[in-house]
Amino acid sequence: MKKSSSSKTSAGRPAVWILAVLCVCSSAFAQTASGSKPAQHPWMNTSLSPDERASLVVKEMTLDEKISLLHGTGMVGLSPMSPLSIHANGGAGYVVGVPRLGIPDIQMSDAAYGVRASGENGRYSTALPSDVAGAASWDTKAAYEYGALIGRELRAQGFNMSLGGGVNLTREPRNGRNFEYMGEDPVLAGTMVGHVMKGLQAQHVIGDIKHYAMNDQESGRNAVNVNVGERAMRETDLLAFEIGIRTGDVSAVMCAYNRVNGDYSCENKHLLTDVLKKDWKFPGFVVSDWQGTHSTAKASAAGLDHEEPGEIFYGAAFKKAVEAGKISKAELDDHVQRILRSMFARGVVDDPPQKSVVDVQNGFDVAQRIAEQGIVLLRNEGNLLPLDASKLKTIAVIGAHADVGMISGGGSAQVDPPVGNAILPPGKGQTRWLEPMWFPTAPLKTIRAKAPHANVQYDAGSDPAKAAALAEQADIAIVFAYCWESEAMDLESLTLPEHQDELIAKVAAANPHTVVVLETGGPATMPWAQQVGGILEAWYAGSRGADAVANVLFGDVNPSAKLPQTFPLRDADIPHPNLVKPPEASTTKDEDKEAWKKIAAGLPPFQISYDEGLKVGYKWYDAEKKPVLFPFGFGLSYTTYAYSDLKIDPGQPMHVTFTVKNSGTRDGAEVAQVYASLPASAGEPPKRLVGFSKINLAAGESKAVSVEVPAQYLSIFDEKKNGWQLVPGDYTIMVGGSSLDLPLHQSATLP
Ligand code: BGC
Repeated sequence: MKKSSSSKTSAGRPAVWILAVLCVCSSAFAQTASGSKPAQHPWMNTSLSPDERASLVVKEMTLDEKISLLHGTGMVGLSPMSPLSIHANGGAGYVVGVPRLGIPDIQMSDAAYGVRASGENGRYSTALPSDVAGAASWDTKAAYEYGALIGRELRAQGFNMSLGGGVNLTREPRNGRNFEYMGEDPVLAGTMVGHVMKGLQAQHVIGDIKHYAMNDQESGRNAVNVNVGERAMRETDLLAFEIGIRTGDVSAVMCAYNRVNGDYSCENKHLLTDVLKKDWKFPGFVVSDWQGTHSTAKASAAGLDHEEPGEIFYGAAFKKAVEAGKISKAELDDHVQRILRSMFARGVVDDPPQKSVVDVQNGFDVAQRIAEQGIVLLRNEGNLLPLDASKLKTIAVIGAHADVGMISGGGSAQVDPPVGNAILPPGKGQTRWLEPMWFPTAPLKTIRAKAPHANVQYDAGSDPAKAAALAEQADIAIVFAYCWESEAMDLESLTLPEHQDELIAKVAAANPHTVVVLETGGPATMPWAQQVGGILEAWYAGSRGADAVANVLFGDVNPSAKLPQTFPLRDADIPHPNLVKPPEASTTKDEDKEAWKKIAAGLPPFQISYDEGLKVGYKWYDAEKKPVLFPFGFGLSYTTYAYSDLKIDPGQPMHVTFTVKNSGTRDGAEVAQVYASLPASAGEPPKRLVGFSKINLAAGESKAVSVEVPAQYLSIFDEKKNGWQLVPGDYTIMVGGSSLDLPLHQSATLP
């Protein structure tokens, strides 16, 4: 695995803040130190709507105060630093408030699977299992809990805005950020991210959903121009955003680095104004990705409300444009109104965060619970799992540093492990941008704890023959295998790195009772799949990953997760078998100090055409009739489920009811999935997910399940009418436990 693209540097921020302290000018200090009693202002009347409150503030603001809300205060390596950044809280973004009017600063932190840069700031944060693991739970309550935990920890650390909420679809399975996203289906991804945002915003933190839009690969992300048809975009990637924003009432949207159909996302009028603000009636604000702003008047007219991290285009240049009449006062006020209404709507004015100590134990509990709900059982030959500790005398644990830790996802999502990288000596493990980070959650320890009477031996796996020799003598071999992913890179291939395929094949040849535990951010190919007894996909499993894995291996937890993305058989089967990479002229490197200046000025575009259009993920494999390794929606359990009694009420919304029975002998939870195939005249892929429900079922128990299907999920996007349209004709509704296992079918004719 190699990096195929690179991006911003993040080193050195604290040093610059110290510098900034020294050069803070007195007037700036007076600005942040002054302030009137907020309660006296009419906009502090909480019975007014967020919009009414914001309008009252806008009327009182000076031009300079308005401009200061439109941009951040800089970041080393990306943009010049403002002296005011002294008041930043150590997050990726800091926006100066208007103390005179009782408007607080906005303190933004990256928070994809936990609060980032915690170690850098001398703090502690819980690492949840990666976002894709949360999506694999298919459990909206777990998603809410995921967001709520992040919200609480943001507040405890003094932040009032999150930069998590990644929901780009897994159109490119090698995208290095897929672990930060929610899979390949817009209904699943949108619903799950919406619930994460609900939980987060309920803590009085501004939520943000990103990267809008079509930022589906990292290679050349600052230069690439994505060519994609309107209908394809609306029904795939944009639908995930639309559902997420609507479900979560999300207050901020981060526009992406890439261009879409010619224009940069952050100055793309079609995306920002026509779709987001007009069609979806989004009342919140658009924040640029870090150095994703490329212009002043054009971006403003297109609908970009706020530049991060600095003020290259939205500071003095913006003021000049307003004074010269190139940007109208109404346009300026709209940006400010949107930012302020979001602050009121989310409660960050009325209930500012108070720094406190993170509740570590609670974080562990939540992280473990969600990890247990997100681990997917992919194979279980002859019911090898769950393991019965009383029958095992020897266990071989092999590979992936399982003696000390589990891998996490890198880049701006990275959460810092306590005491640093588990594979480095204590004190030598500080956070580094774009290096693999291992959390101190050691499967070897949790497996030993589950099987206290067994002889549990570890082998690092670096010599496959040695590992196989250990496995041969063991009752069971558990091989941990990993693939690290990060922002600013893509995978060259879905092949596991570091010859792990060879390791697994050799171990499995030595002992058929081999279980593979995968720690990956997305799909991996598995040429050895038929040779092993069991496969678990544990993703990047978070602070308590090892406990969750052991609970699933030994049956204290019955697995209930399902894949939120297809695992293809081989790279050649994916829509773009060769990753589209930037030519030399459009490439930037971290080490290149001038990179971000070049990026701001605009790199020459190179093209990607998403000709697969609507056929993202399983829709591609279905339509192209390509067999897959593990299909979308697939996941085994230690019990079995039976489906019956499908009934359809074809009204609007449609209601689909059916019965699910736990036909086995263990309690469990089943993710029941509802798919629809549209009339042939619709010109759609063979089927699409239109609803799902996760149901807890005791052994032997049956439950009637009802899934409501909104008309939009059965519709196509009609470009001529610029709206969603139900196509009259015959639909087939299919229900079951995976996209390729749908025992219930029924037709419905829609007028
Ligand atoms: C990433 C964003 C992130 C921002 C701030 C960018 O490079 O693409 O996802 O929120 O940096 O760290």
